[in-house]
Amino acid sequence: MLRGCAYNLAVSDSLLTAAADAANAGGPRILGIETSCDDTAAAVVDGAGRVVASVVSRQLTAHRPFGGVVPEIASREHLRNWPAVSAETLEQAGLELAAIDAVAATRGPGLIGSLLVGLSIGRALAYARGLPFHAVHHLEGHLYSPFLRLGGEPAEAPPRRFHGLVVSGGHTALYEVADGAVRTIAETRDDALGEVFDKIGKRLGLPYPQGPKVDELAEAGSAGSVRLAVARCSDGSLDFSYSGLKSQTLLAIERLERQGVDCDLGAGAGAPAAVRDLLADFRAAAVGQIVDRLDRLRRSGRAPALLAVSGGAAANRLLRRALAAWAGEHGVDLRLVPLAFSGDNAAMIAHAALLRERRGESDDPLRVEAAGRLPLA
Ligand code: KG4
Ligand code: ZN
Repeated sequence: MLRGCAYNLAVSDSLLTAAADAANAGGPRILGIETSCDDTAAAVVDGAGRVVASVVSRQLTAHRPFGGVVPEIASREHLRNWPAVSAETLEQAGLELAAIDAVAATRGPGLIGSLLVGLSIGRALAYARGLPFHAVHHLEGHLYSPFLRLGGEPAEAPPRRFHGLVVSGGHTALYEVADGAVRTIAETRDDALGEVFDKIGKRLGLPYPQGPKVDELAEAGSAGSVRLAVARCSDGSLDFSYSGLKSQTLLAIERLERQGVDCDLGAGAGAPAAVRDLLADFRAAAVGQIVDRLDRLRRSGRAPALLAVSGGAAANRLLRRALAAWAGEHGVDLRLVPLAFSGDNAAMIAHAALLRERRGESDDPLRVEAAGRLPLA
């Protein structure tokens, strides 16, 4: 058990069976490392894309007093957490470090200090042991994560062409993927989907990370009390924009406060019905924007055959229901990332590296650099 940090195990009980299978599986066993933000994560994925171990050590207690991630604290916590996270990962996998065939680490984008910790560890491990190395784009990890399976099952082979929707705390984007090449169709012009959930939650005094709690409160509310528009860009682009919805929602919170509704949810008292209802409207407008963009894409004759949805905010309950309904109605094949792999994790990094390895790609551990900003497409 890890000490000094909150700890969660991202995969199910069948890890041990999967780990035993891994010992016999062909193909490389890849150690993945992910430290782009505040989660210290390591995982082992085998040559069939089975997740044989996945450990995510969160830094919630360290950042909570500040209401969000403090970059300098995050990098120090990664350094502190790594020994326990890596030991736990190898133990879960039932493997010695010597049994690892390749190493992958997130290169960017993210917090530069955080990235440097995981990437440097990965580079050093690969160089010292003479193993192939993969410097993975964080969003590439998310993009292919809906093809990972739970229960130690092999990953599904991604089709040659598909559309990917990545919704997280830092990104909201729609991509078209063809033979490993990624083209951006739309991205947010301001806030990301998860970020706007966090900001609204923070205004209500909720502790970081606020997104899941706002989703939970919205689930308990009824939409329809406040009119919040689904934003569109005036130039007709499919880009997303959440700053208008954020301002409208913040104003609606102020209105409730003027009416005497207690909107400080930090004190631990239950949320008043009016706040839950407002959050239900906020969530409906936020999710409505995603469905609006997908529908406009479909109506323009560019309907996705398969849509793979990933990222921390892909855990949003309304988003999952709305996309399932939309995909069902329009005959779109939908892959929603398993909840265990929606937030940042290293299984997605090792898996993206496996796909790179199959395409014959790799990186020189002596040359690759971390990049806080790094375009995907
Ligand atoms: O992918 P992720 O772990 O980190 C980034 O790459 O950003 O995503 C974290 C984000 C946070 O903003 C968090 O509040 C949001 O995902 N999130 C949610 C939900 N669960 C996590 N947002 C809305 N509804 C949720 N259920
Ligand atoms: Zn992420």
